[in-house]
Amino acid sequence: MVIPINKITLKLGLWFFFVMLIVEVCLFFFLHTNMVKDRVEEELTALQARGNSHRDVLEDVYHEDTLRHIAVMEQNADTEVIITDQEKNIIISSSKLDKGEQAILSKNINTVPRNGKVLEQEWRSEEYISTVSPYTAGEQQGYVFMFKSTSQVQDLISRLTRHFLVAGVLTAALLLLTILFLTKSVTTPLIRMKKATEKLSKGDFSVDLPDMGEDELGELSRSITVLARDLKHLKEERSEFLSSISHELRTPLTYIKGYADVARRKNIEGSERDRYLDIIYEESEKLTDMVKDLFDLAKMDQNMFVIHREKVQLCAYLRGICEKMRPAFKEKGIELEADCQKEIHVMIDPLRFEQVLLNLLDNAIKYSGSSTKVTLSVKREKGEVVIEIKDEGRGIPEEHLPFIFERFYRVDKSRSRDLGGTGLGLSIAKELVEANKGRMEVKSEAGKGSTFLIWIEEVAG
Ligand SMILES: Nc1ncnc2c1ncn2[C@@H]1O[C@H](COP(=O)(O)OP(=O)(O)OP(=O)(O)O)[C@@H](O)[C@H]1O
Ligand SMILES: [Mg+2]
Repeated sequence: MVIPINKITLKLGLWFFFVMLIVEVCLFFFLHTNMVKDRVEEELTALQARGNSHRDVLEDVYHEDTLRHIAVMEQNADTEVIITDQEKNIIISSSKLDKGEQAILSKNINTVPRNGKVLEQEWRSEEYISTVSPYTAGEQQGYVFMFKSTSQVQDLISRLTRHFLVAGVLTAALLLLTILFLTKSVTTPLIRMKKATEKLSKGDFSVDLPDMGEDELGELSRSITVLARDLKHLKEERSEFLSSISHELRTPLTYIKGYADVARRKNIEGSERDRYLDIIYEESEKLTDMVKDLFDLAKMDQNMFVIHREKVQLCAYLRGICEKMRPAFKEKGIELEADCQKEIHVMIDPLRFEQVLLNLLDNAIKYSGSSTKVTLSVKREKGEVVIEIKDEGRGIPEEHLPFIFERFYRVDKSRSRDLGGTGLGLSIAKELVEANKGRMEVKSEAGKGSTFLIWIEEVAG
């Protein structure tokens, strides 16, 4: 297993390790002290019980034989006994008294309960732990002192401590391995993603991150992939847009330059020159319109396009626009019918929305033949209002429909240009509808006609 040691692995790993180590040490310390305490208590209770049982025997039969018997018994055990009278004069002892025992014996024992008491429990510093039990056998009264050498207890405890140390070291090693494995599994994807974002910032959008599962890391990696795709799309769109603009500007400019060149020749007739100047004027108009449209789009892109929505009585508003457009329809021999009798109110920016409708009606005129009909109607549908602009013109072939709202997109470039189109009208219309919190769609069939639909929310009158 190769573990890449880098900053984050090291930082995370060390943090984990030290926190867990502190927890482990505290836990082990607590366990150890408790076990030691229990162990010593057990020893003391056993010692005291042994003293008490000697006391019982003595009280039953106080006799020299009994005393000797007790001493012999203790000689064979790892405990010692000293039996004294009331004044602590030794009657019998299981072995020769040493300093430690004497020191305990000389302690002031005050009153001793019948069940005995602990005289010495300092297993760490003293030579013996000890208990005392009082006895009363007829006239004779005294004490049974029990001793146990602390070296045995210390042995026991140091064995316990060794076990604890081994267990501690083993757990720490295991902990270290687990942490290394865990941090590796967290940091490897992170490092991969870091590399991917570095690539992105250098303009290389070919990010290929593997599926990292359903957790937060997986989500992050998916977001980075989406970001890379979006950035790539944006970059392509931008260069496409720039090349479209330069292309669109070049055509009228070529015309203007060409006709201006011809018009300034000395040997041409005045009427011919006027014709050329007319063309130059028309082309510059087109250029001006296009630059204005582009400027609008740029403002929309930067969200600087101010929309002032207000409550508008839709049918009256639409009828007004139709009246404005009627002469243009008449000129081309197209019938314009407005079908809206209901009381419907909507929140729109009347000026911007008019621009939408004018664009759509202008298209209907441009792309329909004479003696056809254009209908503008309004319906209610599931709490929304649908404005429908239907023509019987040339329609839009199905394969073009998905792109019709894109900037500079025209079905038939040369023919639309002849009709004065730049392919910006619909893209502006769509953005304006969306800025008015509506949405727009198109249905069309080549040769039969097109229908543009706009949905907007209805508000109370
Ligand atoms: N009602 C319609 N019937 C048939 N084709 C249409 C209709 N409306 C739009 N189109 C097609 O969609 C294209 C894009 O329309 P759009 O309004 O965006 O641009 P344009 O009319 O060519 O130019 P502009 O509106 O900027 O002067 C048009 O060139 C045309 O091919
Ligand atoms: Mg148009």
